[in-house]
Amino acid sequence: MVRVVVLISGSGSNLRAFLDSCASGDIPAEVVAVGADVDAAGLDHARHYGIPTFIEPLERGAARDAWGERLADRVAEFEPDLVILSGFMRLVPAGFVHRFAPMLLNTHPAFLPEFPGAHAVRDAFEAGVAETGASVIVVDDGVDTGPILAQRRVPVRDGDTEETLHDRIKVVERELLAEVVRDIANRESAIEEN
Ligand code: GRF
Repeated sequence: MVRVVVLISGSGSNLRAFLDSCASGDIPAEVVAVGADVDAAGLDHARHYGIPTFIEPLERGAARDAWGERLADRVAEFEPDLVILSGFMRLVPAGFVHRFAPMLLNTHPAFLPEFPGAHAVRDAFEAGVAETGASVIVVDDGVDTGPILAQRRVPVRDGDTEETLHDRIKVVERELLAEVVRDIANRESAIEEN
């Protein structure tokens, strides 16, 4: 079973979908901990499943690299096979990336390399594009520049608000993440069997 640590910053609706899919067996993975940089509402989803949570705040003006090392130590305590950033709104420092990549994924609500960064949905919405998308990437030292593992187009509909568009994108993010983690889990078990 693939051991997963998920990092969030917000409502954690994608986390909840992932937890539900793991609990149902739809994704052959076990979330062993959920961490956040703030007391995120989404941590309640982990508590719902009795999964350990931790908060590693980035204090204003604090050294990012030192925070990255503390965060990495917290994550490493749970001996993850895979770390997933799911609505984690901080750029993880290079030291963190090098500690876990390539087993360090991020879901992004755009069709990368279109609309990188923290406001992807707003940017696409304001650009007036007819379609945007969702992507799952391996995190590297850049901002949403890592290798793309899965991505799919999402149409922008007449009457959409940024919120209705984001909700439609999140559904696809969850499906892509499930596909990627299922693939990783199947490859891991295939390697272990040989
Ligand atoms: C997701 O769209 C994620 O890709 C983006 O922020 C959103 C998180 O939503 N970085 P939630 O916290 O899972 O509801």
